[in-house]
Amino acid sequence: MTVKVKVEHVTKIFGPYPKAILEKVKSGGSKNEILAHTGHTIGVYDASFEVHAGETFVIMGLSGSGKSTLIRCLNLLNRPTDGNIYIDDENIVNYTKKELLALRKKKLAMVFQHFGLLPHRNVLRNVEYGLEVRGISKEERTKTAKTVLAGVGLEGWEDKKISELSGGMQQRVGLARALANDPDILLMDEPFSALDPLIRREMQYELLDIQAKLKKTIIFITHDVNEAFKIGDRVAVMKDGKIEQIGTPKELITNPQTQYIEEFIKDIDRSKVMQARNVMFKTSALVYLKDGPRVALKAMESNGISSVFVVSSERKLKGIVTIEDTIRAIKEDQPLEDILKNDFYTTGPDTYIQELIPMATDTKYPIAVTDENDKLLGIIVRVSVLSGLV
Ligand SMILES: Nc1ncnc2c1ncn2[C@@H]1O[C@H](COP(=O)(O)OP(=O)(O)O)[C@@H](O)[C@H]1O
Ligand SMILES: [Mg+2]
Repeated sequence: MTVKVKVEHVTKIFGPYPKAILEKVKSGGSKNEILAHTGHTIGVYDASFEVHAGETFVIMGLSGSGKSTLIRCLNLLNRPTDGNIYIDDENIVNYTKKELLALRKKKLAMVFQHFGLLPHRNVLRNVEYGLEVRGISKEERTKTAKTVLAGVGLEGWEDKKISELSGGMQQRVGLARALANDPDILLMDEPFSALDPLIRREMQYELLDIQAKLKKTIIFITHDVNEAFKIGDRVAVMKDGKIEQIGTPKELITNPQTQYIEEFIKDIDRSKVMQARNVMFKTSALVYLKDGPRVALKAMESNGISSVFVVSSERKLKGIVTIEDTIRAIKEDQPLEDILKNDFYTTGPDTYIQELIPMATDTKYPIAVTDENDKLLGIIVRVSVLSGLV
């Protein structure tokens, strides 16, 4: 994996003498103490993380926890008080104005919560803006802007005034404007927080779609844990200017490292985050068709189960056999083929647990997880699906 952005011990303190305050903070003053004694605010303290190329990295935290301060350090809208920021292995914190402009033009684009559009320009000319600044010809920038607009579902809206657009539409324009420069890195500061829940959900899926196609490196901020877990490959949780924990949604759910994280994920619906692959057993308890009923019985006995999946020599799923049928087959000298049942459910590895709930309540067998070639990847026992619901 290529590291696209590396943030190393970044601290941002607001106030007239941030560097002087830094020493006090390092020797252990809390955010509130520092503010009370010195009037300086710790925006971010000692943040470190890496973002990989093509990854969607979410920074989540309550209002005031330092999310905006941190993301604004990444394009130096905020100069960090301390620490280093590498983009493509180049430390940017001491960039000159000129270098910084070049960086913003070439590699970075930002999408804001309140869209930040130019109200007197129409949709097309808003999206063209960045290209115009870069001196791209009228013809070329119009072409690019139209393509990008179509990509966010705004074909035919080019001539509309910004004020004629709904919030969701305006944010599509914001996104199109950011994408028009074809940046490697998209910085998104609560881009959907001002939208109605329905529109918001639509935009979340839109972003996932766009990301599946374009594979940008995205740093996305939200205060909403459900949004964070839906969108993020990994999520960093911030509290009082510090990063509390970084992990995949699954890691945060299954292994919260602080009380605070535990509280946060209480609000999450586990069944919408966990996928079949996360709860399946890569079972050794399976039987090959050629093995016969005695081997099947042994497999059930040694694993304490009353049915077992049967596969071909290429591990393709052929069916399931129950213990009763297997015992009868041994007595009557039948092959496994004759007692195969097919009344079990199968699912793919990416299915969310939520969709497995009806299957789990309806079946007496485990659910088989198979790949697109019908190969058995693992099994899900009913309790793994249903226990998450309490
Ligand atoms: N320009 C600024 N001057 C002084 N304090 C600031 C400034 N910007 C942010 N802060 C303070 O830094 C902390 C983090 O704010 P912010 O990064 O905006 O949080 P979030 O985006 O998570 O809501 C807050 O205590 C806020 O008041
Ligand atoms: Mg903010």
